[in-house]
Amino acid sequence: MSYEQDLKPIFNGDCVSCHSTSRPQGRYSMSTYAQVMAAVQPGNARSTLVVTTQSNGSMYRYFSGNRAAKADLVKRWVVNFNAQQSR
Ligand code: HEC
Repeated sequence: MSYEQDLKPIFNGDCVSCHSTSRPQGRYSMSTYAQVMAAVQPGNARSTLVVTTQSNGSMYRYFSGNRAAKADLVKRWVVNFNAQQSR
C-alpha cells in the first residue's frame, strides 16, 4: 500500500477541499505527500492523521462512500506500511 497509488486519490476526493495549500483549515495542507506527512509518524497509530480519521475522530465524517474501509486503509498505511510514498 502506498500514498501515490492508494491514499492520494482518497485525500484528493475527500480532504483537499478544506486542506489545500492556499488556505488550509487547521493549518494542515494535504496537497502533497510532504504536507500530509506533517501529521504522520510512520508506524505510529497515534499519529494525528490516524487518530482524526478513525470512527471516533473528528475527520471521519468527511470520508465519502465506505468510511470504515477508508479509515482502515489510512491506519494500515501508516502503521503497517510506514506511510510509504510509492511502490
Ligand atoms: C469541511 C472541511 C474539512 C474537510 C473536508 C476535512 N477537514 Fe480535516 N480539518 C478541518 C478543520 C477545520 C480542522 C481543524 C479543527 C479540527 O481539528 O477539528 C481540521 C483538522 C485536521 C487534522 C489535524 C491537523 C493538525 O495537525 O492538527 C487532520 C489530520 C485532518 N484534518 C485530516 C483530514 C482528513 C484526512 C480529511 C479527509 C478525510 C479531512 N481532514 C477533511 C476541516 C476539514
